[in-house]
Amino acid sequence: MGLVTTKEMLEKAYKGGYAVGAFNVNNMEIIQGIMEAATEQNAPVILQVSAGARKYANPIYLKKLVEAAVECSKLSGKDIPVALHLDHGPDFETCKACIDSGFTSVMIDGSKYSFEENVELTKKVVEYAHPRGVVVEAEIGKLAGIEDDVNVSDTDAMYTNPDEAVEFVKRTGCDSLAIAIGTSHGAYKFKGEPKLRFDILKKVQEKLPGFPIVLHGASSVPQEFVEMCNEYGGNIPGAKGVPEEMLKEAATMAVCKINIDSDIRLAMTANIRKCFVEEPEVFDPRTYLGKAREAVKNMVSHKIVNVLGCNNKA
Ligand code: G3H
Ligand code: 13P
Ligand code: ZN
Repeated sequence: MGLVTTKEMLEKAYKGGYAVGAFNVNNMEIIQGIMEAATEQNAPVILQVSAGARKYANPIYLKKLVEAAVECSKLSGKDIPVALHLDHGPDFETCKACIDSGFTSVMIDGSKYSFEENVELTKKVVEYAHPRGVVVEAEIGKLAGIEDDVNVSDTDAMYTNPDEAVEFVKRTGCDSLAIAIGTSHGAYKFKGEPKLRFDILKKVQEKLPGFPIVLHGASSVPQEFVEMCNEYGGNIPGAKGVPEEMLKEAATMAVCKINIDSDIRLAMTANIRKCFVEEPEVFDPRTYLGKAREAVKNMVSHKIVNVLGCNNKA
């Protein structure tokens, strides 16, 4: 099958009442862990690359690693649909570079700009992407917390206005839209009780029937990993994510793509810390990175089956 766009994946997810996982990739072990899980569960999957990932790993390395992953999945006999997506594209040039190098989907994140500037920028990316067969995700409303370089304090956090969402989609021609309903990036999402504005999501869905919505900042921050990190020398007290039940509910609604990065980081770090403490004699990176990869695989598999519901939807 090779790389596919997210178009059909998200359409099917909408109709089927489930969501596709979009997992951030930064190195070989992360890609392998995600792909092994998706292949085993016969699930469609989105591998997403941030500007930070491109800087860390080099765009050519990441592209080739993803190609290798797709080839290995095919060889295993299960040809699952895989999309390669730019996460939080900061500007037109980065989107263009990814489109030109074979990404099947890009996000242009103009949420830091005014509504009008965001419309203009998103339209420009759509006009470049669509004739080349690439789909575009956009964002309106600001997520609380840290969005790459943009720091939005809790008090500034803005929920998406459903009427603006409708106007934005109509004027830009984007293919999916990330909205702000209370999630945030990172491992500290809620000070008190977790709360998502399902009323806003419902309104957006009513006003944009059939249109795929994206949930960023959707890691659930499994307490098992937080406790493991803290037990083995880490210091991340009080880390808290989006409860899995809420993600499951969102997936039955218009949310078709659920973004997960922090849970990957936590799964790897917890297991590497444990290995370093329990097996201090270990100095072969394959030992601890192998454990980290296995932890990513198990975590992703759990998400696919128990949260996203996209198992056997390849
Ligand atoms: O939404 C942000 C993602 O978690 C990517 O993070 O910019 O540190 O790669 P990053
Ligand atoms: P988390 O920090 O909740 O994993 O969010 C990741 C994300 O939204 C990537 O775009
Ligand atoms: Zn995000």
